[in-house]
Amino acid sequence: MDFSLSEEHIMIRDAARDFAKTELLPGVIERDNKQEFPQELVKKMGDLGFLGIMVDPKYGGSGMDAISYVLIMEELSKIDASASVIVSVNNSLVCYGLEAYGNEEQKQKYLTKLATGEFVGAFCLSEPEAGSDATSQRTTAIDKGDHYILNGTKNWITNGGRADVYLVIAQTDRDKGSHGINAFIVEKGTKGFDIGPKEDKLGIRGSDTHTLQFNDVKVPKENRIGANGSGFRFAMKTLSGGRIGIAAQALGIASGAYELALKYSKERKAFGTEICNHQAIAFKLADMYTDIEAARMMVMKAAWDKDQGINYDKSSAMAKLYASKVAMEHTVEAVQIHGGNGFVKEYHVERLMRDAKITQIYEGTSEIQKIVISRSLIKE
Ligand code: CAA
Ligand code: FAD
Repeated sequence: MDFSLSEEHIMIRDAARDFAKTELLPGVIERDNKQEFPQELVKKMGDLGFLGIMVDPKYGGSGMDAISYVLIMEELSKIDASASVIVSVNNSLVCYGLEAYGNEEQKQKYLTKLATGEFVGAFCLSEPEAGSDATSQRTTAIDKGDHYILNGTKNWITNGGRADVYLVIAQTDRDKGSHGINAFIVEKGTKGFDIGPKEDKLGIRGSDTHTLQFNDVKVPKENRIGANGSGFRFAMKTLSGGRIGIAAQALGIASGAYELALKYSKERKAFGTEICNHQAIAFKLADMYTDIEAARMMVMKAAWDKDQGINYDKSSAMAKLYASKVAMEHTVEAVQIHGGNGFVKEYHVERLMRDAKITQIYEGTSEIQKIVISRSLIKE
């Protein structure tokens, strides 16, 4: 067993760290305040290969492994979780979904542009009446021979107002339950496909979240991904990889907050000494570091499972469940260590605390991760 990173992995991590510090950090507070999508930065991340990290170079990707992906996600998320969710959705939901389940034509037409950042993608599963209970969706895709007609509403869609390509999951045959669901590629601007107003959110405010409406949207049959009725398994399998990305995001938020708290505690003095010398603060730092290190091991294990071709449904759910808990608990502690300064935007930790919450909700809530983990344990 080897816990050390290869030289290549260290280079990749350092490149992401450098990008986060020099490019993401300067405007991060302003983008959070204004709920501003980092359009220019997305382009730069595309140029660096961060939008198609694991995609085969023959489709324009960087051809890296899942370990590289989580290293990049952690570094970006330490500074800007809004930017990192754009990376996560594009890589592990949209690019992976197309590369693993799309046909050659779909890969040539869409993946090549998504992997380079020329296009941005969105993944549309959730609905107003079907979030955790994803099989109960109401969006329909009726088979009309050479095309499908889509009707319904998707909500909470990340990159919703900014994407060029939307992977949309819809019900073709309700009687068949989860086996009657299909996944489709829908291009922006398709007639009848409308984007609703942007959500005003607690955290990841620089990311772009919208409700989408489908009113008699005509989607050619060649835009269906995979065999008829395979859409739910497509969504579940894709989400297993997505959960590795969000686990790494949570890890980054937690470790970013820890680094700020450690630095502050070594500078701020109270009662004649730096506050890190008070045991109450020192023990918080010890707990933070220990839990973050444990989360890192779980995130790396899930990524390693994926790289080795080992089933990662359970390890990704465990990594997301644990890393998101650590992120939530320790960003609160990081604010506490900063005292009053923790409560103002300039010190960054309040934003990390707000951003941490979403990691316990999206790509399956913590309760849903426990369902996935416990079902897997019982099946084993
Ligand atoms: N791989 C392959 N197949 C799978 C699977 C997996 N990981 N998980 C389930 N399936 C299959 C099952 O085997 C079953 O098939 P059979 O009938 O042939 O056995 C079928 O799918 C239905 O599965 P379940 O009976 O387990 O379905 P369920 O209704 O009990 O729901 C669930 C299972 C795990 C709770 C699922 O609904 C779920 O994951 N919900 C959460 C949804 C979610 O994560 N949404 C995220 C949206 S995207 C997002 O959030 C992005 C973002 O923010 C950035
Ligand atoms: P509900 O399913 O209504 O759950 C409410 C509560 O009940 C939760 O605490 C839940 O854990 C609990 N609960 C539900 N069922 C059970 C059960 N069986 N056992 C125990 N507890 C249960 N979705 C997309 O498809 N694409 C995206 O890009 C996307 N981006 C998002 C971005 C943001 C900022 C947000 C907020 C959400 C995003 N989502 C996206 C949606 C997200 O995946 C859902 O919000 C999430 O899956 C939960 O669904 P829900 O909000 O309907 O909550």
